Formats: sequence, structure tokens, C-alpha cells
Amino acid sequence: MKQDMIIILDLGSTENTTLAREIRALGVYSEIYPHDITASELKTLSNVKGIIIYGGPNNIIDGEPIDAGKHIYESGCPIMTIAHSRVKCNNEYPDWETAFPHLKDFVFDICKATANWNMKNFVDDQVELIRRQVGDKKVLLALSGGVDSSVVAALLIKAIGSQLVCVHVNNGLMRKGESEYVVDVFGKQLDTNLIYVDATERVLTKLERIADPEEKRKIIGIEFIRIFEEGARRLGGTNAISFLAQGTIYPDIVESGTKTVKVVKSHHNVGGLPDDMQFALVEPIRQLFKDEVRACGLELGLSNEMVFRQPFPGPGLGVRCLGAITRERLEAVRESDAILREEFKQTGLDKKVWQYFTVVPDFKSVGVRNYIRTYEYTVIIRAVNSIDTMTATIEEIEWPILQKITARILAEVKNVNRVCYDLSPKPVSTIEWE
Ligand code: XMP
Repeated sequence: MKQDMIIILDLGSTENTTLAREIRALGVYSEIYPHDITASELKTLSNVKGIIIYGGPNNIIDGEPIDAGKHIYESGCPIMTIAHSRVKCNNEYPDWETAFPHLKDFVFDICKATANWNMKNFVDDQVELIRRQVGDKKVLLALSGGVDSSVVAALLIKAIGSQLVCVHVNNGLMRKGESEYVVDVFGKQLDTNLIYVDATERVLTKLERIADPEEKRKIIGIEFIRIFEEGARRLGGTNAISFLAQGTIYPDIVESGTKTVKVVKSHHNVGGLPDDMQFALVEPIRQLFKDEVRACGLELGLSNEMVFRQPFPGPGLGVRCLGAITRERLEAVRESDAILREEFKQTGLDKKVWQYFTVVPDFKSVGVRNYIRTYEYTVIIRAVNSIDTMTATIEEIEWPILQKITARILAEVKNVNRVCYDLSPKPVSTIEWE
């Protein structure tokens, strides 16, 4: 392995990810693990130069304060303990600001780590890890066509070439033209092993009358895995394929809930996995933040257009068609999203704004068209900027552009008589509505 690593044990700090990014900013790779990592799990990790035990306000589980196991303290690795500033009053522990200069000393002087974290080394290490994990077995990749799964595809092609089989599932919740794009880029231009499955009817039928966002996400996630399992069986029995690769990234894991962090929302490639799943997972970018995923894609030679596409959630338009999905409202989300994307492209905003989409809530309001009363749905426009998805700010779109988009949606999208613009940053809101 090329990269040295400092691992952070999550003892309930809310700043674990900030710390990981601070260490990576020093040029040293860092990964976060649960506080109860076992001795054998620890042994499987290569090049661990030091361990940071990071406590904080969430370090109580089931009424008991948690600590790292004895094997951690006896592992022989240099250890640094940081407690949340709340605990600082007894002056035993430094808070974040005073801890940071110590961090540099710890990483370089005590752990003797080398600043060798860069995308080239990351890719080389992942290629080696993937080959070690997979051997000569086949891997199935859920290729949505989004940045994350595309980067995973490129990594796997580099690592195991034709052992990779990509499946693109159209679950009926894709953006307009999206499935066609995936088939064109991966199936035709990149000549990947690609199987296309149209599961629209199946998924939409399962989602009928399901209004709870978490339940919707779980159903979409479970169906997605089942469809893959069936795909694998069709490819010559379940033995033919042993692994499922996924484009899970670090914020997905945090927000799906760790041992110390409660669920924000279960990201569909993490929380919704059925217990009896028949694949082992390959998740080579699970420790990366979004900006790092893009850098990894560029390192692998993916085009700018592919790497800088706006993120699209695993559950697709399903979490933008709020409450129980109806085909009528789903069509309104899809068509209004297509108009928004077209207009953003035309004004160059697509290169500037990080993520933009439309949402259709499950209520109607009164309007008037050609002197006749209407009672129809609302489209909400959302356009946000973010670096790593953990926080987001609102794009200040010029009024005439918003007015043009509004006029087009009202004229072209069926069953819609009102358009709103969402001004809420993350936090307090999340980027998606469900
Ligand atoms: P939230 O809504 O959590 O979204 O602020 C943060 C970013 O993640 C995307 N997102 C998802 N991506 N699976 C994904 O791969 C998911 O289940 C999922 N949910 C949200 C969202 O679009 C935004 O970019």
C-alpha cells in the first residue's frame, strides 16, 4: 500500500468528518471507524500510523458512556485522545482550536506519517485492495450514471476489467433522458459490459400509497438490490457473481446513522439494504467526500462533463415527488426538472450551480387559467451550492431567469398552476426534501 493512514475512532464527536478532512489537508490519508472496531478488523488495515480517539456529545449509547477497547490502547500505535470542548472544563483535554497544532505534531512527529495522500496513490491503493478482495470473481455494479457510480465503474474497470458487469436499472424514478444517456456513454462509448433493466412498473407499483419518506427510501433500496440479485441469477446463477459494487460515499454513511449519530435520512445505498442480501459489498469510495470523488474521477480519466455532473440521489425523483408517489405528479417532477436543466444549460448556470432540481409536494392549490378555476400542484425549484454535501447555501438566481423558468413550467407542465423558489440552506434544511 502506498498511503500512510491515521484512523479516527468515533466516540461520539460531531466533528469526526472535520478532523478527517483536516488530516487529509495535511496530506495524510485518514479514515473513520466505529469505537468498537475489533482487534482483527484493525489488523486488516494497512499502514495505520496512529489512532485518534475522538469523544464528544454523543458518546453515550444505551445510557452508558462508551470507550475504545483495551486492544486499541495496547495496539502499539501512537494514540491521541480528543474530547469535546464540553469536557474541557476540568482542563484535562484540549478543545478543537488547541488540539489542531497538536494534531500536526501528532501526525508527523509522533506517528511519523508521510504526507503521501493524493489521488494517484489513492487509486493505486484501491486497485490493489479491489483485486485482493475480489480475486477472480465477478462484480456487479449498480450503474446509475451519477458521478459516484461512474467513478466506481472506472476504478473497477482499471482493477478487474472484464470481471465487471454493470447493470443499469431504470426504476421509473430517473430524470428525463437519463437511462438513454447511461446506455449511450457506458454501453456504447466506453464499451462496458452493460445490462439494461426496465423495472419501472415493478418499483412504482411497490411504492403505491407509501407516503413516509423513510419507508419510500427503504422500498426503493430493497427493490434495487432484489432486481440486481435477479439480474445476477440471469447471468448464470448466483455463484457466477459474488460481489456488488456501490458508489457509497462518506456523507451517505454519516447521514444514514453511525453507532453514535442518529439517522438524518437513510441513503438508499446504505440503510435500505435487506438483511438477507446475497452479495458481499465492494465500496471503494466509501471514505471519500464529494469533491474527492470528482478528483478521483479525473485521475481515472473520466471526462469533465461526467465528473462535474450534478449529484443525483440514489432514490431518484422518488424523493422529489413528495409523499405517496402518483404517476401524474412524478411526470410533473420529471418534466419540470427537464425544463430547469435546459434553462440552466442555456444561461451557463449549469457550470456554476452545484445542484438544482424541482420538487412537487402532495398538495394542490387554487389557480385560474383562461378565466376558469384550477386546482393543481405546485412545483418548487431548488438550486444550491455545496462542497461536500454536508452543508449547502442557496444560489441567488437572477429574477428574469427564474421568471422565464416559471413561465415555461406553468405553460408546459401538466397539472401545475404554481411555482415557488426554496430559500432554505443546509442546515437547517437538507438538500433533498425527503
Ligand atoms: P441531503 O438531502 O441529505 O443530500 O442534504 C445531500 C446530497 O446527497 C444526495 N442524496 C443521495 N445520494 N443516495 C445518494 O447516493 C441517497 O439516498 C441520497 N439522498 C440524498 C443529495 O441529492 C445531495 O446531493
